[in-house]
Amino acid sequence: MKIEFVASPGAAEILAVLAHEGRALAGAGSALDQAASGALAKAMKNSRFTGAANSSLNVAAPAGIDANAVLLVGAGAADKLDDLAVETAAAAAYQATKLSGAEVLTIDLSHLSPEQAARAGFAVRLAAYRFAKYLTKQKAEKIPSVTTVRVVTPDVKAAEAAFGPLSAVADAVLFSRDLVSEPANILYPAEFARRVKALEALGAKVEILGEGEMEALGMETLLAVGMGSERESQLAVIQWNGGKEGEAPIAFVGKGVCFDTGGISLKPADGMEEMKWDMGGAAAVAGLMHALAGRKAKVNAVGVLGLVENMPDGRAQRPGDVVKSMSGQTVEVLNTDAEGRLVLADALWYTQDRFKPKFMVDLATLTGAMIISLGLEYAGVFSNSDELATNIAAAGPKVGEKTWRMPIPAEYDRHIDSPIADVKNMGNGRAGGSITAALFLQRFTNGTPWAHIDIASTAWVKDSKNPTVPDGAVGYGVRLLDRMIADHYEG
Ligand code: BES
Ligand code: MN
Ligand code: ZN
Repeated sequence: MKIEFVASPGAAEILAVLAHEGRALAGAGSALDQAASGALAKAMKNSRFTGAANSSLNVAAPAGIDANAVLLVGAGAADKLDDLAVETAAAAAYQATKLSGAEVLTIDLSHLSPEQAARAGFAVRLAAYRFAKYLTKQKAEKIPSVTTVRVVTPDVKAAEAAFGPLSAVADAVLFSRDLVSEPANILYPAEFARRVKALEALGAKVEILGEGEMEALGMETLLAVGMGSERESQLAVIQWNGGKEGEAPIAFVGKGVCFDTGGISLKPADGMEEMKWDMGGAAAVAGLMHALAGRKAKVNAVGVLGLVENMPDGRAQRPGDVVKSMSGQTVEVLNTDAEGRLVLADALWYTQDRFKPKFMVDLATLTGAMIISLGLEYAGVFSNSDELATNIAAAGPKVGEKTWRMPIPAEYDRHIDSPIADVKNMGNGRAGGSITAALFLQRFTNGTPWAHIDIASTAWVKDSKNPTVPDGAVGYGVRLLDRMIADHYEG
């Protein structure tokens, strides 16, 4: 997708303008309507289009306007046109026209700020994401025709400048989505690690630890998860040092279960294919590091990815096994399907032990119970730090990645005590399954300020209602944490 910023629309194929609720044309729309002798207002009046967000009305070849078509794009209430509403409108304009046959879509935002024009271009890049590499017989009419989006803005230079870092974030979200979309026969731990190595081209430092190195570190809980797999487990360590030399980094840790069969505690066959995206946490952290490096963020950050495949096999770990984590704590593995926390236990411990970070945030498609408790729109945030939890919560509404804070009550901690080891990897029964998982992770944070984001509900979307996020891999977490860092931890 090519994004261009221009000072005037010129002769356009499709010219999109905003309309607000109450059928109120905004910006360039009123002048166009006059030029077309009221044809736009008339078209609205004779339709159900009201200007509501994420809706549009196509007006073909209105006389007096230099365009093949004018697209009226709903932008919601006029007094609520924030940056996110501009993104939604631009993405909706793209979705409404992508299969039209036109190659260029021009969106007139000349009445808005150049920063908002940049947000529009950014949103179109996210909206145009497709994972089509394995489609060998695509019908021509299913392939988007729109390949260039021009955004009309009063200050082209300023819009381009604002678009630079946003485009780097878009690259990162798309990188993350590609990782999540790949099937597990293609994206296994070593292949994931190989793709992360590409971040070196952006100036990040990437180290890959194999099973031998992790064994030497005593990372038995992570390694136990991968024991049933033919694929070697990996730990990817990404460093971006854009901040002050010697300043402690902020750290991000991702669950990268490239496929989760459940192991010997095998999952039911129905829907198991979804577990190819059980590496969504690691993909978010990889994407975040891509964003920070790509936009040269003024911060020291590390990303640690625990990459494994959870398979049933003669060599796989068994329910009831006891393994020793890098922290020294022993873990009774009651259910081999509660594997993400075993991976994160060692990855979190390693991260705080090696980097002494200011804080750690882990992202993980950790529990099905998360979907039960918050539904599909919100990720759960568990934290021992009010400051960190507040900063994460504040970023959500700015980027359209919603979060909700969950408790980690000390009273529940005894539910993960084991009679034969220091801790067990699940609670008693299903009660509070996401909370007992967070309590488990907390035991491996060594008191470091920490937040755990359970993205089981948000990493993948079916039947998306958000034009900026097509069905499939969301890349959830990249924008959220990039924004949190930009707002609170840079410079
Ligand atoms: N990867 C799953 C959680 C999951 C489920 C993510 C559905 C996305 C969609 C995780 O490894 C898992 O299997 N968790 C178990 C934990 C239980 C055995 C304590 C679960 O949620 O059932
Ligand atoms: Mn599992
Ligand atoms: Zn899992």
